[in-house]
Amino acid sequence: MSAEIAGFVHNYLPGERDGSGVTLLLLHGTGGNEDDLIPLGQQLLPDAAILSPRGKVSEHGAPRFFRRLAEGVFDHEDLVFRTHELADFVSQAADQYGFDSAKLVAVGYSNGANIAASLMLLHPNLLRAAVLFRAMVPFEPEEMPDLSGVPVFLAAGRRDTMIPPDNTERLAGILRQAGANLDLRWKNTGHPLTYEELEEARGWLTRTVQ
Ligand code: MLT
Repeated sequence: MSAEIAGFVHNYLPGERDGSGVTLLLLHGTGGNEDDLIPLGQQLLPDAAILSPRGKVSEHGAPRFFRRLAEGVFDHEDLVFRTHELADFVSQAADQYGFDSAKLVAVGYSNGANIAASLMLLHPNLLRAAVLFRAMVPFEPEEMPDLSGVPVFLAAGRRDTMIPPDNTERLAGILRQAGANLDLRWKNTGHPLTYEELEEARGWLTRTVQ
C-alpha cells in the first residue's frame, strides 16, 4: 500500500533479513507510478528492499520526476529543484524505514533514469550504484562531480527514437570523466526494455552490490 513522505507517494518493501542490505530506489518512466517497477526490482535483486516513489510532476496527467519543455528538452531549474527534493525524500525515508542509506542503488527507466543521472551529478555520494535504462544527459555539469569507482550499468537501444544514441554516448562520457565505473551496453533495439537486458542487469547487480 502506498504511503507518503515529503509529499512523495511511494511504496516501501523491506528486504530480506540477513540479505544484502541493499535498497533499490526504483524510478519509473513518464506515465508510470510507484507500482510499475516493483516486479522488475524484485527480479533484479530478490533480497533487496524497495523504495519506489511516484514522480511529483504531472504532464497532462502522466507522472514524471521533473518538467520538460518538449521531448528531450528539460526545464533545468525544475530538474535541479526536483533532484534535491528527491534526495531529501530518500534521506527522510532512510530515517523512517531504517534502511542503510550507504547501500542505496538506483534503478531508473527513461525519465526515471534521467533523474537518477541528475542525482549522481548533484549528489555524488547518495548512490552506491545505479542501473540506468534508456538514459540521456540531464544537464551538462559546470563542475565535474567525483563519482570515483561508483558502478553504473547503462543500457541503451541503438534504435531508440526517444533517447538519441549520441546523447547517451555523451552521458557515458560525463560519467567516465567523473570517474564512475561504467558498464555501457548497446542493443539493436528501441525504447522498450528487452528480456536480455534485464538478465544482464541482474547479473551485473548481483556481481556488483551483493
Ligand atoms: C525525459 O523526458 O526524461 C525523456 O524524454 C524520457 C521520458 O520521457 O521518459
